[in-house]
Amino acid sequence: MQVAERSIMLQSRADRIFLHIMSDLHIGSAQCDEEEIVRCLKAGGGKEHHYYIFCGDIIDCIGHKDKRFHPSKLHRAFVGIDDILGSEIEYAAELLKKHLEPGQILGLLDGNHERKSLEYCSFHPVRRIVEMINGYTTGIPQAQYLGYHCLYRLMIRRNKSKGAASFVIHAHHGWGGGGRTAGGSITKYDRHAMQYSADIHCYGHSHDPGLKPIVQDVSIMRTRLEIDIRNSWLICCPAFQKTLSQPGETEPWAETMGFPLRPMGGIVMEIDVDWEMGKAKAVMPSPE
Ligand SMILES: [Fe+2]
Repeated sequence: MQVAERSIMLQSRADRIFLHIMSDLHIGSAQCDEEEIVRCLKAGGGKEHHYYIFCGDIIDCIGHKDKRFHPSKLHRAFVGIDDILGSEIEYAAELLKKHLEPGQILGLLDGNHERKSLEYCSFHPVRRIVEMINGYTTGIPQAQYLGYHCLYRLMIRRNKSKGAASFVIHAHHGWGGGGRTAGGSITKYDRHAMQYSADIHCYGHSHDPGLKPIVQDVSIMRTRLEIDIRNSWLICCPAFQKTLSQPGETEPWAETMGFPLRPMGGIVMEIDVDWEMGKAKAVMPSPE
């Protein structure tokens, strides 16, 4: 498990923080929905206090010796290239750098697809993407490599104010086979999430979007005899990999296995700061 921290300085009480969570982009797969990826990157790209975290399976990472490899599963941009993994890494890093400002990316997790590359070739694709994103920039908060499972703390401060509020992100790529019941993965992740003290719990892998508020902790208030209920959010991230092929294309694995069609995209949460209590919590952003 990895830990990381980022310090965020706001100018005033009116400043708002947005957290964009994206998972399972599967860049390199013929079914990768790049249009949707770009839409989500543009939604917060270049905007102040919009931060991004990527929860694994960023690249599809299936080489020709992998038993899952099939020429029809490769995105057309990678056909005829022998360095498939290297090209996917470069493509992913360039895409993120093109749409996001340096400092906007909090970090990137491994998924089971990238971990296969570690297993087969002792090669860490996400570490390489992180190096390419950070490049030689100095004086700007760097994107972190977050392993498969992490706790990431945001320390939020306000100009000319002494106090700080903390906000903790718990992220895990996820595990297990896919379910055909919509929302079915929420139960297994719910049980796992309860072991970790965080304001938000993010899981990928299942390609089964779901969002659920959970009671994290019930305690007595420190300053008075009242009950303090701490809520957090469980987020099962949607993916960016299509289930259904277009006419003429070979049906992807998910389609042949009867997986349901699911909405794709990212999740955006707003972080609301309670300066008096020194706490921050996630709320669903209101439509603008
Ligand atoms: Fe996965």
